[in-house]
Amino acid sequence: MSSSSQIAKLQLGDQTYELPVRVGTEGNRAIDISKLYAMTKHITLDDGYGNTGSTMSTITYVDGEAGVLRYRGYPVEEIAERCDFTETAYLLIYGELPKGEELEKFRTNIRRHTLLHEGMKTLFAGFPPSAHPMAILSSVVGALAIYDKDSGDPGDPIQSEMAIYRMLAKMPTIAAFGYKQSIGQSFIYPNNSLTYCQNFLHMMFAVPSEQYEMDVDFVNALNLLLILHADHGQNCSTSAVRMVGSSNVNLFSAISAGICALWGALHGGANEACINMLEGIMAGGRNLGKYIDKAKDPDDPFRLMGFGHRVYKNYDPRARLCKTVCNRLIEKYGGEDPLFELARELEEIALSDPYFIERKLYPNVDFYSGIIYRIMGIPKNMFTVLFALGRVPGWIAHWREMHLSPTNRIHRPRQLYTGHTERKFVPLIKR
Ligand code: CMC
Repeated sequence: MSSSSQIAKLQLGDQTYELPVRVGTEGNRAIDISKLYAMTKHITLDDGYGNTGSTMSTITYVDGEAGVLRYRGYPVEEIAERCDFTETAYLLIYGELPKGEELEKFRTNIRRHTLLHEGMKTLFAGFPPSAHPMAILSSVVGALAIYDKDSGDPGDPIQSEMAIYRMLAKMPTIAAFGYKQSIGQSFIYPNNSLTYCQNFLHMMFAVPSEQYEMDVDFVNALNLLLILHADHGQNCSTSAVRMVGSSNVNLFSAISAGICALWGALHGGANEACINMLEGIMAGGRNLGKYIDKAKDPDDPFRLMGFGHRVYKNYDPRARLCKTVCNRLIEKYGGEDPLFELARELEEIALSDPYFIERKLYPNVDFYSGIIYRIMGIPKNMFTVLFALGRVPGWIAHWREMHLSPTNRIHRPRQLYTGHTERKFVPLIKR
């Protein structure tokens, strides 16, 4: 899928080196430096990997300048309108939209694995009520490797398929059980006659003593949000999954690492941080100007949460879709939401401020997603769990792509050492 008809020339002292230029299917270009160290004894340096392509990938195309996102070539807007989450997962993992019977088999295989080993319930019981659901999620997903030992070898195609089904099937159960444990309610077991999104809402919100009436708009909103979060190229958590997975560890451990990476406020944790910020602004008297000034102040660590992106230098297409869903749900449930009003105002001010214009800072997916979750009754500390639920197909797709690649090898970046040169050891009594 890539050609290398061009070369780049690198001049180091009086030596000239030729490096192949790889061209992607969308005309994007990369200078291939994989042989650079062998040729020159030099490494490249790129703190934060802002300019480093860690792999070639056929899964997701992001054009940050144009604000374009495509899964396996299909615009995310079209996928969001026409697919459900499970179908999207199939597309991301296997590369093509499934035919009818393929999709049915995929759904059946996922349904068959929604239950957890009964012994795992003791894990939940051991967590204190104050435990953050992301910590619970990463721990319990990691623990799947203890219980599902026959799906641990990434080199075995049958075991890998089993691991994929189990991961997709058990993630909603783990997420919902973690929540139920934290609020002291009994676990609600999966009901396999429901769809993926319905099942998650059922496990989250049903109680044994009452009939749970599911709101179809909430199911649709959840479906959309999960699709929008399903993949985004080599982001921090996906890179973590690839990095950890490259040691040939099992899928569950690699995804547990991805969940930890996602938790941070600069990544998936931004949806929770964004609502905290909006609530703080509201509680502080809606002084929007003060917060815009704080965000612009280089000496103030405050950042406008849900704004800015390493890749998007345009409106994040996912944020646009989230905003539309916010509008739709708010219209249905009373016509106003003070937090949504505040977010819209904040966006308007920021998008007309030279600081944000010059730096091309726009709302990202996390700016409006939390408002949707709030309307659905999802507690704030579960927002990033929902991001993780959506991102599982992407993590799996990258893990699978990596293991199927003939050039796959353990990920091991180098460093430019800037510490002490060799020095003489000083015994304890002389220090
Ligand atoms: N508020 C104020 N200033 C910002 C913001 C922001 N949200 N984001 C970036 N900037 C400024 C930053 O201070 C820098 O200014 P200067 O050039 O004067 O030093 C400039 O814009 C470039 O920012 P950067 O930190 O070099 O950009 P980055 O690519 O390293 O970071 C980011 C990207 C998403 C971490 C950052 O924009 C940020 O912290 N945003 C808030 C957190 C957030 O919303 N994260 C969710 C990301 S989208 C979903 C996901 O992937 O999880």
